[in-house]
Amino acid sequence: MWELRSARFLAADIREKLVQPGDTVVDATLGNGHDTVALARLVGSSGLVIGFDVQPDAVSSTYARLQSEGLLNRCQLHCVGHEHFADYVHRPVRYVSFNLGWLPGGNKEITTQWETTRIAVSSALNSLLPMGVCTVCAYPGHAEGNHERSELISFLAGLKPQDFNVLRQQFLNAGPGAPECFVIQRQTGCTYIYP
Ligand SMILES: C[S@@+](CC[C@H](N)C(=O)[O-])C[C@H]1O[C@@H](n2cnc3c(N)ncnc32)[C@H](O)[C@@H]1O
Repeated sequence: MWELRSARFLAADIREKLVQPGDTVVDATLGNGHDTVALARLVGSSGLVIGFDVQPDAVSSTYARLQSEGLLNRCQLHCVGHEHFADYVHRPVRYVSFNLGWLPGGNKEITTQWETTRIAVSSALNSLLPMGVCTVCAYPGHAEGNHERSELISFLAGLKPQDFNVLRQQFLNAGPGAPECFVIQRQTGCTYIYP
């Protein structure tokens, strides 16, 4: 039975409906590689997953997870900040996943920061195919996450509706720190250019 669950489950539902075999997609925050494995399955052997993380531990645990699932052959992993997205992604993409915050079980000092997230999200929006989607799961339960979520809302609210449809999913009865999912779909005829 379908269940209404937290932010990352909405992102997972969307990617499962959207991503097709042969697609190119991006995991902008590898973490422990759970999203990367799911994406690698969806794009199939003819597709490509391009991934970023600043932490060598995240890249190596994602590498190991992909290897054990036999999915490495369709993935490019970069131990580089996603703010360098435009230097590494040179083709239009169907889907980009951001799961902000820190590495689960890792160093909480190393968390995504709005200054670099803004550059990465802008680059991601530039890279999307018509009707392609970017999802951003945000975690406002800590100070940087709260700041990042607020700035993200301002940034996304400023996008022109003829360029992107933007959805904010928020559980109204789960408390102020509950994760939120933002869904941005590029419209046909979008003329957005990186600001
Ligand atoms: C919540 S975790 C991602 C979880 C992951 N999607 C999974 O399925 O396990 C957030 C990740 O973002 C990474 N990160 C922080 N700053 C980054 C940056 N500038 N570029 C890319 N990744 C970054 C952290 O190292 C951390 O691994």
